[in-house]
Amino acid sequence: AKPVIVAIDGPSGTGKSSTSKAVAAQLGLSYLDTGAQYRAITWWMVSNGIDIEDPTAIAAVAAKPEIISGTDPANPTISVDGTDVAGPIRTQEVTSKVSAVSAVPEVRARITELQRTLATSAEYGIVVEGRDIGTTVLPDADLKIFLTASPEARAARRSGELKGADVNATREALIKRDAADSSRKTSPLAKAGDAVEVDTTALTLPQVIECVVTLVEEKR
Ligand code: C5P
Repeated sequence: AKPVIVAIDGPSGTGKSSTSKAVAAQLGLSYLDTGAQYRAITWWMVSNGIDIEDPTAIAAVAAKPEIISGTDPANPTISVDGTDVAGPIRTQEVTSKVSAVSAVPEVRARITELQRTLATSAEYGIVVEGRDIGTTVLPDADLKIFLTASPEARAARRSGELKGADVNATREALIKRDAADSSRKTSPLAKAGDAVEVDTTALTLPQVIECVVTLVEEKR
């Protein structure tokens, strides 16, 4: 069978990562978490004292860090200049700054190129999750999924992940980040015209996984 390319987009807290990883593992495909790449470059900017409020300063160094993503869904790794950053990219500091960094066109151009290279070199195909995969990164993907869920469901899921986090504060931060991601000029979070929308509000994770697996199998 020819490699199948699956794009999964949507805001945070819709179960995108859990779904994408499980679908890839179940179907023997590679997996790419593009949010982790934007988090990694943001971590590098913060670590190197780059002013996050200054897009020109960010653009000037956007090509510097070497970002390497491992695409095994059972062990998705991410490193910057040889350092494993899987832990540090999940801090609140990086989470609150990633939207500003990822809005800079030079950052997007650089990361998009990495994503296309990985997607086209996956032997059996790949599940790529993000915000602009179906619209910009891989417009010719074999299948495009757009995951949604109510803000309440999304905040509840995220606070569950961040053990003990306040649901209201999580909800506010999440809504702010989605608004920034949806309103930026360069490839905002958006549903591609030919994407299948799946509302996960009332679905369990296994149900969402099954739904997406079925859709992929129809394309193979
Ligand atoms: O998916 P995750 O929540 O880890 O994404 C972190 C951030 O990375 C998003 O809020 C967004 O600013 C950025 N991102 C993006 N384009 C993508 C994936 C993530 O701009 N394809």
